[in-house]
Amino acid sequence: MDMMNSGRNKISYKSLVVVLVFCCTLKAADISAASSNMISQGQSISGNQTITSSPRGIFELGFFTPGNSNNYYIGIWYKNVQETVVWVANRNHPVSDPFLSSLQLFPNGTLALFDQSKSAIWSTTRDLSIASNSTSQVAAILLDSGNFVITDALNSSAVIWQSFDHPTDTWLPGGKLGYNKLTNEKLTLYWKSWTRLSFIFLEKNTKQSLKNNTLTPWRSSQNPAPGIFSLDLEQNGTSLLLMYNGTRMYWTTGPWTGKIFTKVPEIQLNYLITNISYVSNELGSYFSYDAVYPDIFVKYMLDISGQLRASKWGRDFHQWTSFWLRPSEQCDVYGFCGAFSICNQQQVPLCVCLEGFEPRSPKDWDSADSWEGCVRKTPLECTSGGNETFVVIPDLSFPENSETLAGKNIDECRLACLSDCSCTAFAYDSRCLVWKGDLFNVKQLTSDENVGKEWHLRVPKAKKENKTLWIVTGVLGGLLGILLVIVVIAKNKCSGSGERIYLHFY
Ligand SMILES: *[C@@H]1O[C@H](CO)[C@@H](O)[C@H](O)[C@H]1NC(C)=O
Ligand SMILES: *[C@@H]1O[C@H](CO)[C@@H](O)[C@H](O)[C@H]1NC(C)=O
Ligand SMILES: *[C@@H]1O[C@H](CO)[C@@H](O)[C@H](O)[C@H]1NC(C)=O
Ligand SMILES: *[C@@H]1O[C@H](CO)[C@@H](O)[C@H](O)[C@H]1NC(C)=O
Ligand SMILES: *[C@@H]1O[C@H](CO)[C@@H](O)[C@H](O)[C@H]1NC(C)=O
Ligand SMILES: *[C@@H]1O[C@H](CO)[C@@H](O)[C@H](O)[C@H]1NC(C)=O
Ligand SMILES: *[C@@H]1O[C@H](CO)[C@@H](O)[C@H](O)[C@H]1NC(C)=O
Ligand SMILES: *[C@@H]1O[C@H](CO)[C@@H](O)[C@H](O)[C@H]1NC(C)=O
Ligand SMILES: *[C@@H]1O[C@H](CO)[C@@H](O)[C@H](O)[C@H]1NC(C)=O
Repeated sequence: MDMMNSGRNKISYKSLVVVLVFCCTLKAADISAASSNMISQGQSISGNQTITSSPRGIFELGFFTPGNSNNYYIGIWYKNVQETVVWVANRNHPVSDPFLSSLQLFPNGTLALFDQSKSAIWSTTRDLSIASNSTSQVAAILLDSGNFVITDALNSSAVIWQSFDHPTDTWLPGGKLGYNKLTNEKLTLYWKSWTRLSFIFLEKNTKQSLKNNTLTPWRSSQNPAPGIFSLDLEQNGTSLLLMYNGTRMYWTTGPWTGKIFTKVPEIQLNYLITNISYVSNELGSYFSYDAVYPDIFVKYMLDISGQLRASKWGRDFHQWTSFWLRPSEQCDVYGFCGAFSICNQQQVPLCVCLEGFEPRSPKDWDSADSWEGCVRKTPLECTSGGNETFVVIPDLSFPENSETLAGKNIDECRLACLSDCSCTAFAYDSRCLVWKGDLFNVKQLTSDENVGKEWHLRVPKAKKENKTLWIVTGVLGGLLGILLVIVVIAKNKCSGSGERIYLHFY
């Protein structure tokens, strides 16, 4: 059965129930194939099979792979907008062969993903205990809103589970962001490094763009590590918060007044968005919103940079266009550059290690994983004689978590820092500030901003004699190498048994 073609069926949502009942009597005929917009009870999808939302065919669900990795995920994406995944099921448990894996719906309403060894690596929970008849049928239906719902086939308001209750990094119109009291789950957006993707199973018209992706500067990390940034609803409050590692808030909408968010009232005024509402009842507390125009897609997404981004897509725009972004400066995202690095809004790449430091994981430094930060190239010896010194870095906005010491001038402050092994930096600005341990959110300002300050970073004393030694060794080594090559070539030519000598050389 060609899932691509069957996806174009125009069935209205209300008539589904009728179709479903009819299908069920036929299901023995083709057990493995799913209907166009749903997975019926006992059916499954596998390999390149997809289901398409109905009636407008806006979303599609199936296996996809991020970049050129060998990991496959079940996801939902816009069918006719290239490479925009809005939801992922098995985000921590990829499969390696989608054709040997399957997403299957059981009669009890559980949807489970089985990998190539036939073990269930992901499954839905039963969020709502509905008084279900043992005789009743269930169905997993992909709606045009992008919501994937498992319901009682005869009663679509009896929702057993829905993807809108388990968002990943995208908040769609109609979706919920907040707290589900029934399941005790936070409806939180987590940034995941696989957000930017290319597909192997998509239609021909995206092939071109897929090719271009490999040339564009954005990279997809192959490793869907858990996100470090999240968007949460404040506990017992009505503010939405951007959080670093679940604990450190770095941006907030401000409380909801019933009409606006106090710190970002412009959200409510946007012509593309309406019905922003806050619901709090015995089931949970959450925000939701609607899109004004059915033909202009709108989404909020927790971006790869830790920023919350609202984008629109319409036939006239041809691509996702961002119309709102907070925090507007990437360097204001807490911990974006990780420890011991400087964030500079005016340069590419934004994050550079402080002097004497190197990226913790060099492989990831250029990609989206800059939050892993930097580590010391050589550890501080921390001896009282002072083999350590300070480099002065001008025009900085200081990192947070400084401590104030009693130093009366810059020299006393320097000594105070040197005498404490955990002191990593100091600054004297009419009082003595010192920093201990990891340094976060060091921001480079331009000198003409005239607000930055001098900052003194503790580094090991440069070992000049060692440097010259290395240069000498390098030069000698180089000469020796050239000599060796000459000898080998000479021998090669003379003896005529070049191959053996060549092997020997290696
Ligand atoms: C789906 O996979 C089958 C089996 O490998 C293949 O024959 C078919 O061409 C594929 N369809 C698409 C649209 O890629
Ligand atoms: C539903 O059925 C499947 C397969 O029989 C089983 O593995 C799963 O535990 C069941 N789920 C619930 C919530 O009963
Ligand atoms: C259970 O099934 C019976 C008969 O099939 C029906 O009358 C009844 O309404 C069903 N109950 C629910 C909760 O679906
Ligand atoms: C459909 O399900 C809802 C939610 O469980 C329930 O309140 C309603 O009574 C059900 N309707 C029928 C006809 O069973
Ligand atoms: C993609 O590449 C093609 C040719 O390789 C080019 O014509 C097209 O403009 C590119 N598209 C984008 C969005 O860069
Ligand atoms: C939220 O409210 C509950 C119950 O009123 C209370 O136990 C809890 O401490 C509150 N949490 C915060 C963070 O205020
Ligand atoms: C995030 O928090 C956890 C637990 O609080 C901690 O173990 C971990 O080191 C933190 N990660 C980073 C990058 O700060
Ligand atoms: C906004 O909410 C009202 C009342 O619930 C609803 O009738 C209307 O369709 C919603 N607007 C959009 C664009 O969804
Ligand atoms: C400073 O470093 C040198 C060479 O690394 C070492 O010989 C010397 O003992 C160190 N001085 C102190 C006071 O630790």
